[in-house]
Amino acid sequence: MIPKAEIHCHLEGSIPPVLARELALRNGIELPANLFDSRGTYAWTDFWSFLDAYDRVCTALKTARDFGDVIYSYLVGAAREGAVYVEMFCSPERPAALGISYTDWLAALADGIDRAQREHGIVGRIIVICIRHLGPERALAMVETMVATPHPYVVGFGMGGDEAKFAPRDFAPAYRMAHEHGYGCTVHAGEVVGPESVWAAIRDLPVTRIGHGVRSADDPALMAELARRGVVLEVCPGSNVALGLYPDRASHPLHRLIDAGVRVTLNSDDPPFFHTTLGMEYDLAGLGEKELRAIARTTIEASFADEATKQRLLRGMTP
Ligand code: ADE
Ligand code: ZN
Repeated sequence: MIPKAEIHCHLEGSIPPVLARELALRNGIELPANLFDSRGTYAWTDFWSFLDAYDRVCTALKTARDFGDVIYSYLVGAAREGAVYVEMFCSPERPAALGISYTDWLAALADGIDRAQREHGIVGRIIVICIRHLGPERALAMVETMVATPHPYVVGFGMGGDEAKFAPRDFAPAYRMAHEHGYGCTVHAGEVVGPESVWAAIRDLPVTRIGHGVRSADDPALMAELARRGVVLEVCPGSNVALGLYPDRASHPLHRLIDAGVRVTLNSDDPPFFHTTLGMEYDLAGLGEKELRAIARTTIEASFADEATKQRLLRGMTP
């Protein structure tokens, strides 16, 4: 099995329907009727209704332990597909709304990460993400908490949510603080909005990676700039096709980005929502073993893990 690694997967977006039902049962919660379609998979129709469905699955979560069980469950599944490292996007917004403290939430996530590593050898790390449509003040408050409460598994800062709301520069104070305190930075851009959102992200934020960024393929000058700067794209083809950015995998720009010299990684984003897994992304990328091994190495290099961890993982991936 080709060793794999992933740096773009959302914690709550990784919950498969069966786990959502289990958690809801354990917590005595009735899941919203419109969460599932008639086949029992998540019901949504476009990017915005997907974000709504994402909020609905979160209603299954109640305790800090739930969050730990979700990350554990994801890491175990990823390890079975050959993943040696996963960086998970975890937003403190959801636990905060449930009255769970930042430190209790982190302790539960760390426990899930430790259990998965003990049992399956996979290394997990956390990227704290803010939610763009909730605005810059919430983002800044989040970073203030993050830097005031360091944890060895929290290695980076990022932003998901509705890309059409606000501009990257609105979040510059939050990103600057994260960067100055040594956290790696990434941002969703060039997914639902075109190349201009990627230009704005690399101009206004201290990011070394872009979440998605695939719309950069619409702009040759931007691809050249990303290649020149070595900016890494967290590409999620299955997600892009499911959300209708491209009609099918054959028309996805992954290969065009690679041919333009852009550094790319392969990721699952919100796998059960998009009927994918990290293993499927590798299998369906239309690339050979040598190229896939190179992508896995790029993923580790672009990760926000400490240098010793990166070197150990890279050594372990050498055939
Ligand atoms: N949150 C979860 N998945 C996301 C995506 N694909 N884009 C933006 N925000 C998200
Ligand atoms: Zn994402």
